[in-house]
Amino acid sequence: MLSRHDLYERCVQSPRHAVPLLRVVHGGQPRVLGEDFAGTAALSHLWVERVEGGRAIAVDLDAETLHTHGDDPRVLKIVGDVRTATRPGEHDADVIFVGNFSIGELHTRDQLLAYLRHARSRLNPGGVFVCDTYGGETAFLVGSVERDHWTDDDRRVRYTWEQREADPLTGMVVNALHFRVDRGGEVEQTMHDAFVYRWRLWSVPELRDAMTEAGFPSTEVHDHVPDAVDDEGNVYATPIESGDEVDASFIVLVVGRT
Ligand SMILES: C[S@@+](CC[C@H](N)C(=O)[O-])C[C@H]1O[C@@H](n2cnc3c(N)ncnc32)[C@H](O)[C@@H]1O
Repeated sequence: MLSRHDLYERCVQSPRHAVPLLRVVHGGQPRVLGEDFAGTAALSHLWVERVEGGRAIAVDLDAETLHTHGDDPRVLKIVGDVRTATRPGEHDADVIFVGNFSIGELHTRDQLLAYLRHARSRLNPGGVFVCDTYGGETAFLVGSVERDHWTDDDRRVRYTWEQREADPLTGMVVNALHFRVDRGGEVEQTMHDAFVYRWRLWSVPELRDAMTEAGFPSTEVHDHVPDAVDDEGNVYATPIESGDEVDASFIVLVVGRT
């Protein structure tokens, strides 16, 4: 049986793409990752494997989830609220990353600003804060998107992302993730509402304005996937500029630079 965290990591996350992309967005030689709203801290564990001399600090409210992958001395796990559980000076990082739309866990602008100020105070010189969000014409539509993933032993995992509620007047959305595992058409496992999130869907300009107000001298926007990856695995990413064409439905990284 696959646990709901196995299914989530298989279908929702892609740390092997996120690690090189975050390094390139930083632009230097970042060593320390701060993974806030870390969930299972899968990104932190891969970061310390892939980055020479790398360390990570992973923070989440949920102790059991945070410890899914066991202990690694290079990954410091802190159970608590991202706004208060870490201390500037002691838990500083080169990149602080908030993935899979978790910035939406902060529902009010006051909460968002308090968090961004705290995150900025933990960044080393040259450090970047990076979070993702989705937007575009379809952002406040309700409905579902399905995607299939395959396991090494030929099971199909059908992943459904459902936007169940969406209120363009408050910016609040409810998103639910469902999984179904089958082998040759025979269903082995179903997990309806494996994860349900009630988020504030922050727009790109709302996030940039809040970052500026929180003291980031500059902000930029990147696609959530690299522009290109060459044969040696080098990743290329340039900011999306105002006036560039964006999809009707897009996912981007919003970046605050120190
Ligand atoms: C959507 S999951 C994201 C997991 C991970 N970032 C990823 O990329 O898959 C959101 C996580 O945020 C955590 N969380 C929500 N509010 C939090 C807070 N104020 N402080 C710390 N963690 C929080 C939840 O426990 C949950 O694990």
